[in-house]
Amino acid sequence: MSEPTPPPDGAPVAIYSAPAPASRKPTKKVRAPHLQRMKRKGQRITAVTCYDATFARLVDEAGIDVVLVGDSLGNVIQGQESTLPVTLEDIIYHCRAVGRGLGRAHLVADMPFMTYHRPEVALPNAARLLSEGGAESVKLEGGVRVAEVVTQLVDFGIPVMGHIGLTPQSVHAMGGHRVQGKGAEARERVLQDALALQEAGCYSVVLEGIPTTLAAEVTAALQIPTIGIGAGADCDGQILVLYDMLGLNRDFKPKFLKRFAELGQATVDALGAYRDEVRQGSFPGLEHGYADRVDKKAGLKVAR
Ligand code: KIV
Repeated sequence: MSEPTPPPDGAPVAIYSAPAPASRKPTKKVRAPHLQRMKRKGQRITAVTCYDATFARLVDEAGIDVVLVGDSLGNVIQGQESTLPVTLEDIIYHCRAVGRGLGRAHLVADMPFMTYHRPEVALPNAARLLSEGGAESVKLEGGVRVAEVVTQLVDFGIPVMGHIGLTPQSVHAMGGHRVQGKGAEARERVLQDALALQEAGCYSVVLEGIPTTLAAEVTAALQIPTIGIGAGADCDGQILVLYDMLGLNRDFKPKFLKRFAELGQATVDALGAYRDEVRQGSFPGLEHGYADRVDKKAGLKVAR
């Protein structure tokens, strides 16, 4: 049997693992109206945040319905103390990356702090998230006070996801990241915010950091789906920050969070093994090296 012809010198080799582009097979894309149908059928919606193409591909493969490029990237990607420094450019950049990894999941882009406080500001900014970032809808924080903005965006064909309760962009006004909607008056405000968002045309609303019974009440009062985080099991769906639910931030253990993996510890363990093997000279092994034609003639053992 003849030897396979060696590749010509300088033949290309893969150097970094770009995730293969999302499957080009026709997939049934999840869109905003689909999520509303899910509520009507009593099917729970699954959502996570995501910030890059490699994770996006895995999230999509796992069958998650909604992927949010959240301004939580300020915390988990940029290492900031709040979401306030995140810019529209940051969200667009990460949205484009995430979009390259997605086939089926619905892609939502967060509108950063002070990019949607007036309709004439919100409209061009939301448009950029769709046209440059490739998002399929936008999310913004606030209830009654953003209703007019929501109506304008929806009128121009931009689907909007609301976000009420604990709204991290108002961290200073709330005096920290505190559970909202406690007590009769605060409960009523959250309910009125939810109804205002529905009336304004939101296709869904995130309920963050509110009592379980209030989330249940809001969910029952709305025709549009609620997606909860720290809001109990009676929402129409759930969302978690990807890095947190995978245990990448080992010290972050709020009450509402369940860690579905311990990738932070797994990463430290893997890096420790790599460090040891490099120091001992056992990595790279023969199998990780490239052979030259002259190696064979010289009787050198280099695995191909
Ligand atoms: O930015 C974000 O990650 C969010 C989710 C927590 C809902 O807004």
